[in-house]
Amino acid sequence: MKLPLLRRTAPLSHWKSPLSFPSSTSPHRHFFVSLSRAVVRSLYQRRCLCSKMAMSQVVVREPDLLDRKKASIRNAGTSKLQVIADFDGTLTKYWCNGARGQTSHGLLQQGNAEYDAKRQMLYDYYHPLEISPSIPIEEKTKLMEEWWEKTHGLLIEGGLTYDAIKKSVADATISFRDGVVQLFEFLEEKDIPVVIFSAGLADIIEEVFRQKLHRSFKNIKVVSNRMQFDERGCLVAFKGKTIHVFNKNEHAIDMAAPIHDEFGNLDGSDVNGTFVKDRTNILLLGDGLGDLGMSDGVSFENRIAVGFLNSNIEKSLKDYSEAFDIVYLNDASMWGVFNLVSELCSTNQ
Ligand code: TMP
Ligand code: MG
Repeated sequence: MKLPLLRRTAPLSHWKSPLSFPSSTSPHRHFFVSLSRAVVRSLYQRRCLCSKMAMSQVVVREPDLLDRKKASIRNAGTSKLQVIADFDGTLTKYWCNGARGQTSHGLLQQGNAEYDAKRQMLYDYYHPLEISPSIPIEEKTKLMEEWWEKTHGLLIEGGLTYDAIKKSVADATISFRDGVVQLFEFLEEKDIPVVIFSAGLADIIEEVFRQKLHRSFKNIKVVSNRMQFDERGCLVAFKGKTIHVFNKNEHAIDMAAPIHDEFGNLDGSDVNGTFVKDRTNILLLGDGLGDLGMSDGVSFENRIAVGFLNSNIEKSLKDYSEAFDIVYLNDASMWGVFNLVSELCSTNQ
């Protein structure tokens, strides 16, 4: 691994590791020592440090590169910037009141125990395949298409209603990271679009917005699997093409629709991608390495990728710190991203 240069940093002794160090004979020792330097350099002891951020740990492997990207994005102005975010585990907490936070799929109880069990069986079979490092991506893509089609089929066959979605969200263990609302408000004020890509279920994500935030944001679009209900509120079909983990990117942007308002109405405008056209600077937020693919389909000039590494830190930190410009550890809040966006939008630097 390339050893990051040390620059403008506090001495190592000032840094308290969030991780336990391997022994001096461990093959990973060099990685952790060099990483510790990266961590020290990147704790943002510089201008943007705020007290909330100091509580979480941040890793920036190439601070100079990050600084250059920040300067380019700031110089280009806010009219060139768009934010692309994953939903589950990125905007939402990984841990919620001491329990694992649920995903938009995971929280759904369709009011039919037999069908809930059938979907769980599919999860148990396909999820290990989704995350298996040994299956080639083409093969995985086919498997994921199979999984999503089967799950969507079970939701229809099992008689899912919109009322069951409302109840599932009300009962769910799910909450947004601290600072998400303030981030959205700031971006809305600056007219910076946010595209939320999810291979989950758009109707559930929107219901989470409604029940947890009690408001919508005119700059946010959800690109996810969208349901069609009949007049009795029963699910009859899914609209458009299926979005799964390996095709959630701006090629799927024609699926984008704004967050519904409280009464389920759409404003009907801007559903064809024009809201992000010409915005060639990207701030990407994700919690999985696959989330980096969300910017596929955009010919961007600059991209700052922020990763939330929520679990398996020791195993995954090397890959994450190489793939993402900034990595937040330990289910961090969104305040670091809030500070970053404030910097990107600042005109006084
Ligand atoms: P995303 O939130 O990163 O877009 O990915 C959606 C996740 O949903 C993915 O990791 C697999 C999971 N999933 C379920 O939990 N249940 C399901 O029925 C399906 C199809 C997916
Ligand atoms: Mg996620």
